[in-house]
Amino acid sequence: MTFYVTTPIYYVNAAPHLGHAYTSIAADVLARHARESGEETFYLTGVDEHGEPVVLAAEREGVTPQVLVDTNAERFRALTTLLELSNDFFIRTTDAGHIVRVQEILQRVHDAGHVYRGTYQGWYCPRCADFKSESEIGPDNSCLIHRIPLIRESEENWFFRLSAFQEPLERLYADRADFVMPRHAYNEARSFLSQGLQDVSLSRAKLSWGVPVPWEPDHVFYVWFDALLNYVTALGYARPGEDLTDRFWPASFHVIGKDILKFHTIYWPALLMAAELALPRHVFVHGFLLSPHDGELEKMSKSRGNVLDPFAIIDEYGPDALRHYLFREVTFGADGPVSLEGFRSRYDTELANEYGNLANRTLNMIGRYCDGRVAAVSLDRELAGDFAGLASRVDELLSRAELSAALDEIWQRVRRLNRYVEEHAPWQLAKEPQRAAELERILASLAEGLRVVTVLLHPYLPGKTVELLDALGRPELAAREFGAEGWGGAVGPLAPLFPKS
Ligand code: ME8
Ligand code: MG
Repeated sequence: MTFYVTTPIYYVNAAPHLGHAYTSIAADVLARHARESGEETFYLTGVDEHGEPVVLAAEREGVTPQVLVDTNAERFRALTTLLELSNDFFIRTTDAGHIVRVQEILQRVHDAGHVYRGTYQGWYCPRCADFKSESEIGPDNSCLIHRIPLIRESEENWFFRLSAFQEPLERLYADRADFVMPRHAYNEARSFLSQGLQDVSLSRAKLSWGVPVPWEPDHVFYVWFDALLNYVTALGYARPGEDLTDRFWPASFHVIGKDILKFHTIYWPALLMAAELALPRHVFVHGFLLSPHDGELEKMSKSRGNVLDPFAIIDEYGPDALRHYLFREVTFGADGPVSLEGFRSRYDTELANEYGNLANRTLNMIGRYCDGRVAAVSLDRELAGDFAGLASRVDELLSRAELSAALDEIWQRVRRLNRYVEEHAPWQLAKEPQRAAELERILASLAEGLRVVTVLLHPYLPGKTVELLDALGRPELAAREFGAEGWGGAVGPLAPLFPKS
């Protein structure tokens, strides 16, 4: 089986903020975990360069859309590198390879009779690029997501017959309870569906920045159809001279935030059905990172101005600390507040004290008391028991994209190892030469426990874990079980993994 995971493609109307980093890290953890489990893996991320959000931002900045997208796409690309994302491709929807494939697929949808010309009348949010249905309209015709007035739109467009997919979608939801995860997101998608689907605009006559409609060249495709298709088009040209579509489509996971649930759980499967393409296995919908705005905790967003800058945090603390924080602090799938104070406090207590200290202490004690070698002796059965089933539990949780729960399982073992040190006080044993064998066994067991948690943490902390595994002399990521015997090898020195802030 292959594994294909995607992030949303982000609008390049501004620099990336922590919310964008969040989804990308989540997808990266899933990609790294799948790869390390031996699955052939493809991880796609990138940027959405068309549509009104980008056009309006370019107007505000007094530059052409092309200049704006070229500048900001590079900022998003730079973030993928700084976050140590293992993405296999970075798509830009202005790529020629994307544009021709969007046109080809939507031409097929047109030829199969799923589109018609009509007049759109209704409320539109230019920041969402979304034609709102009744339940999505806030007080005084405002956008519930951006809290800005909606615009009354009336235009001659091409329409996609979304309403014709009412029953196929109902069947999809009845048959596949895990199509949308977690459960509350599945329920929300179903409830949207139960209100009855309206046809949606497929083209825009008023915009020129977009993918031209082949059968109506004065129109461009409505940005969402262009954008959603990235998940398929990228596979066609990510590797020059090779088409990866058959190998990786359908996607295993689309990871998205809840602001774009409707597009991914309703429009997208309908469009795929219309194009006769297979449906993704899962859409995982996570919650919002919240941050104070006017005295209230609200969605972190550029329009509210309550964003945290991932570049600044990485610059000071490195990518691993940020990756760790986000999934410890906010249960993946739910909303939760984030802050620099919260970040620093978790950094100090968990990374510096609980994990970093454990690592440096363990290596120091092995250096001091065991000649710098992990003894090849049988290991502590009780400690082994506390690790039994851990790797498969982590696998199981990550197969449902439960990133916080999986990390918590691992972290409980980090804490178990700290207790183990306190319980056995190796520094006391070291004073009693007749107990040397016991001391060796305890430190070898501790080293093995540290190795196992570190291997399992690798998808979350891809940098620091490698430093530690190298120092332990056991770099291989495939050995995920607690062994019966110490590995019998020398350990090296290790600079403080997470220096106190
Ligand atoms: O919607 N908390 O792009 P976008 C958590 N181009 N996640 C957040 C977040 C927050 N406060 N803010 C942003 C678009 N995100 C379209 C997508 S996909 C075919 C097209 C993340 O730049 C989260 O993943 O508005 C959210 O869904 C996404 O950024 C929206 O990014
Ligand atoms: Mg948005």
